[in-house]
Amino acid sequence: MNERILVVDDNSDLRELAETILKTQGYDVTLAENGKEALGIFDQRELDLIVSDISMPEMDGFALLKAVRSRDAGAAVPFLFLSAYSQKSNLAQARRLAVDDYLFKPFDARELLEAVRVRLDRRRAVKIFDTREAHLQSVLLMANVIEARDSYTGQHIEQVRKTALLLGKALRWDKPSLVILEFGAILHDIGKLVVPKRILNKEGEFTSEEWDIMRKHPEEGVRMLEGIHHLKPAIPFVLYHHERWDGKGYPEGLTGENIPIEGRMLAVVDAYDALTSDRPYHQGISKEDALEKIEAGSRIHFDPYLVKKFIELEDQLP
Ligand SMILES: [Fe+2]
Repeated sequence: MNERILVVDDNSDLRELAETILKTQGYDVTLAENGKEALGIFDQRELDLIVSDISMPEMDGFALLKAVRSRDAGAAVPFLFLSAYSQKSNLAQARRLAVDDYLFKPFDARELLEAVRVRLDRRRAVKIFDTREAHLQSVLLMANVIEARDSYTGQHIEQVRKTALLLGKALRWDKPSLVILEFGAILHDIGKLVVPKRILNKEGEFTSEEWDIMRKHPEEGVRMLEGIHHLKPAIPFVLYHHERWDGKGYPEGLTGENIPIEGRMLAVVDAYDALTSDRPYHQGISKEDALEKIEAGSRIHFDPYLVKKFIELEDQLP
């Protein structure tokens, strides 16, 4: 969708000139004659940026900026002044009100477009970051629920997340893939929410019924995430992290590269974490011993290429 820009100026020639320039770049432009009219528009529609004159009848640019900043929706909307004034006192006041940029009239097209583009780029980046943060927070909340039930997990989820990111970076995954990897690593065991506590925290061997229940956790996890749009891409991590290279894993018993890379990768990371952390029934082993065991599981349990890559990370592993 085109970004929406509001241009506010009492001079109709300047207003239309700015409109023409901005429209050449495909922006969706709305015009207002003064601050009051602009504020009315601001309250009715979502805007991505405001360009405003300072001196105007009814409500001037300063009052408009102040009013916009005092609203929740206006706290982060880029605001540019376009003014003939060049007095220092004006600049100082504009800065106090947290204006984003200040252009002097007469302006040229390039100058205006550049100022607008820079602010919109920044706004887009901040928006993406905020959404990602919000997702991460909700995901961490869910992960904490798993940890609260599962006494051995402790630092488990955090360590798996960090280790998975190290491996993802070593594999040169791009940024969006790393974000999904992070979600997948945090949520891979979320299906354990349906496993009764007495089984989860059992110290001795599982009975075969208990195993059956335990082995359902990848599919249960998928069921939980299926309906959550932004978490769907993380599903392969959840579903396939207990598959084995030799086909003896679950739930599908896939072999070798038929196992999606997400599952092959998390299998190595998860095993490393399980080996190195203390559990009720065993003490964690050293990094060196854990890597030796993982190497021994190459082509049996794990993807040999990923094992090699993982061992190369030795110095960086927790
Ligand atoms: Fe698991």
